[in-house]
Amino acid sequence: MKVLVIGAGNMGSGFVKQLSAAGHSVSVTARDAAKAAAVASQNANATAVPAAGAAEGQDVVILATGFGDAVSALQSVGNLRGKVVVDITNPLTADYMGLTLGHSTSAAEEIAKAIPGAQVVKAFNTVLAQVLGQGSSLGDGSKVTVFYAGDSDAAKGTVKDLAESLGFVTADAGGLKNARYLEPVAALNIYFAYGAGRGTAIAPAWQGI
Ligand SMILES: NC(=O)c1ccc[n+]([C@@H]2O[C@H](COP(=O)([O-])OP(=O)(O)OC[C@H]3O[C@@H](n4cnc5c(N)ncnc54)[C@H](OP(=O)(O)O)[C@@H]3O)[C@@H](O)[C@H]2O)c1
Repeated sequence: MKVLVIGAGNMGSGFVKQLSAAGHSVSVTARDAAKAAAVASQNANATAVPAAGAAEGQDVVILATGFGDAVSALQSVGNLRGKVVVDITNPLTADYMGLTLGHSTSAAEEIAKAIPGAQVVKAFNTVLAQVLGQGSSLGDGSKVTVFYAGDSDAAKGTVKDLAESLGFVTADAGGLKNARYLEPVAALNIYFAYGAGRGTAIAPAWQGI
């Protein structure tokens, strides 16, 4: 697939690495062009691109910025009408130990409202950057699950295929509204990793589904 990654930080660089290794054609754009260039230069199938018009011709756009920068970052890459946009954000408080919204909405729903016509799919938000950077398995060999939620079955199918091409197990978590559940799961994961000091080689999974 042709994939645009917006953001060249912890998650963005992990996506560029794993997508490139899986043979996808990867473009990466960042607020700081030098960061995008540095990430692209380490990966064979990756190219750093300016934001303007970067969405054109892409099969999937992965949003790998903080939630606060999400809408402006998406607006900067051009026309997203009909595009599959993967929202990986978690709307975290400054200390990373809470969420700034939830129950009656989610980061994903707020992003979808702000970018009308985009096919927003919540996914990968429960996968820690340290895990993504290593691939789709934990150190004990167990496969990491990517939960995905969205209102377009076609867009969800694309995200499922993309995640599985990277080796992840996938779980359909329903409509985009269920991002209200996936974002707190990520918050609990962050608590285990950092709050409870269990470390970052962890990932949530669901038994019996
Ligand atoms: N880290 C994790 O383990 C993890 C796991 C799951 C989900 N997430 C979510 O993934 C997102 C990214 O997290 P992260 O840890 O990768 O953060 P990060 O390291 O801070 O990276 C975010 C990147 O987005 C860039 N950016 C900001 N505004 C932009 C714009 N308008 N256009 C292009 N790039 C822009 C930033 O640029 P600058 O360098 O110029 O600031 C930065 O490089 C967050 O929403 C987070 O909640 C993170």
